[in-house]
Parts: sequence; C-alpha cells; structure tokens
Amino acid sequence: MALKLVMAIVKPFKLDEVREALTAVGVQGMTVSEVKGFGRQKGQTEIYRGAEYEVNFVPKAKIELVVGDDMAEQVVETIRNTAETGSIGDGKIFVLDVEQAMRIRTGEAGSDAI
Ligand SMILES: Nc1ncnc2c1ncn2[C@@H]1O[C@H](COP(=O)(O)OP(=O)(O)OP(=O)(O)O)[C@@H](O)[C@H]1O
Ligand SMILES: [Mg+2]
Repeated sequence: MALKLVMAIVKPFKLDEVREALTAVGVQGMTVSEVKGFGRQKGQTEIYRGAEYEVNFVPKAKIELVVGDDMAEQVVETIRNTAETGSIGDGKIFVLDVEQAMRIRTGEAGSDAI
C-alpha cells in the first residue's frame, strides 16, 4: 500500500488534543517538534501601516506521521477538526508521498513498517 507523510503545523496548545484524537482513530506513531514559522500575516497579529515588511516567527508545533493511503484523509480531517480555533495562525496540513519506510529492529518495510 502507498504511504503518505502527513505534516501539520498547529498551535502548540492544541498539540495534546490533536495527539489524543489521532491515537483514537488508530494512528500508531508520530513525531512532534517545536518549530517557529509565519504565514501570510508574517507573524503579526494585525497588519498596520508601516509594519508590513516586518516578519516575526511565531512558535508552532509540527506533527509528522506516516500512514497508509487509506488513512490519510481521515488523519487530515481529524487534525483539522481538532486544531481549528477559527483565528489566524491555526496552521497548515501538507500531505506528501513516501518512497520507503523501514522498521529498524526487524527490517520490515513498506506498510509493514507502520
Ligand atoms: N507555505 C507554507 N510553507 C510552510 N509552512 C507554512 C506555510 N504557511 C504557513 N506555514 C506554517 O504554518 C504556520 C501557521 O500558518 P498560518 O495558519 O498563519 O497560515 P496562513 O496562511 O497565514 O493562514 P491564516 O490566515 O489562517 O493565519 C506558520 O507559522 C508556519 O510555520
Ligand atoms: Mg496566518
């Protein structure tokens, strides 16, 4: 089965809720990191004249998980439903094709490694 990498950038205070929701839908593993970034408001809570070229990095949480093709859509929906506050800066979800996966301990590859 084809594998997908779901990479999501969310507000840090949403991380626990997203993790709980993802494990509830059967996700077996994930990687999280503390990151910083900006979107189209360039890290400003509001854009005002004179400050439009200033860019600020805002702390975010990055979630990466590799899942089978058949689960990717559900994972994306789950992240969106739990990470959404309705305010700017709620984040983004990206889905990428995965070439290969391997469980180091056993050498299992592909979807067997998930
Ligand atoms: N094009 C992008 N590529 C990589 N990371 C991005 C991109 N856009 C946003 N991000 C990451 O997502 C975080 C949150 O982005 P954000 O939700 O502010 O996007 P936005 O497009 O400005 O949407 P909104 O208008 O809802 O704020 C950023 O701080 C950054 O880490
Ligand atoms: Mg934004």
